[in-house]
Amino acid sequence: MYDCYTLNNGVKNPCLGYGTYKAADGKSADIIQMAIEAGYRYFDTASFYGTEEYLAEAIRRSGVPREEFFITSKAWKTQMGYENVKEAFRQSLEALKTDYLDLYLIHWPLPEEGYSNWKQLDKETWRGLEELYEEGKVKAIGVSNFLPHHIENLLEDCRVRPAVDQIEFHPGYTQEMTVRYCQEKDILVQAWSPIGRRALLDNEMLQEMAGQYGVSVAQLCIRYAIQRGIVPLPKSSAMERMKQNQDVFGFEITEEDMYRLGTMPQTGWSGLHPDAGSVRRPEK
Ligand code: A2P
Repeated sequence: MYDCYTLNNGVKNPCLGYGTYKAADGKSADIIQMAIEAGYRYFDTASFYGTEEYLAEAIRRSGVPREEFFITSKAWKTQMGYENVKEAFRQSLEALKTDYLDLYLIHWPLPEEGYSNWKQLDKETWRGLEELYEEGKVKAIGVSNFLPHHIENLLEDCRVRPAVDQIEFHPGYTQEMTVRYCQEKDILVQAWSPIGRRALLDNEMLQEMAGQYGVSVAQLCIRYAIQRGIVPLPKSSAMERMKQNQDVFGFEITEEDMYRLGTMPQTGWSGLHPDAGSVRRPEK
């Protein structure tokens, strides 16, 4: 297991994980099993990904005890609301063949673009998560793709503060406002698509910089997240790259290069998502 961050409730969160999104192609138990063999112990899944059952199967096959894993899952947009989210959680536990989760997140702050009652819905969903947490069924609770105003809404009257915000983060999409906000509030940021879904791999500036450190562009991007205090959740379907993506602790990106990586032109997938309505114009 790698070094861990301590979440705001004292729970340890490994500083690097494996993202299972789109690992569900019929062979995904094999791919996830390979990731376990490559040494990953933190696995990020979600009901929406369709990978929970494959993850359970891979863990079963590996023979590694459940307690050695850190497992995150998420409630999808259609599973929001106080009762719904508790049922969603129960289904996730069943699919994952476990009796607890390490971390459970609300996947998106609003169910669809223009949804007007998101503040109420998020609060009710959060109340469901708080109950699961207080019952000891999940060790920590948090959010995903939330911007500062979405988190502010929860902080107004929550009993348990969100421990994590998992967002798209990579050079070229660093969501500075959200990262700064979370880090000030002791909310750990986790990065989905830390290597920018291949889009960054052909970038000349990154290729040149990676060459100077003797690493790949993917390793440079993963290291960038780590040096920002953010948990990268890369994915790969190949053993060699799974291993490479964990081999990011033997070099240090200079302050000047960190600045160059943080000031690249900003284009992210979630900025193009329908929910980006909430990125560009905060709801009332
Ligand atoms: P592959 O499965 O062939 O390795 P992200 O996690 O940012 O969404 O990116 C995932 C994509 O990046 C996948 O297409 C994956 O392809 C590719 N990828 C993952 N690790 C590496 C690596 N070390 N070098 C090159 N491509 C990588």
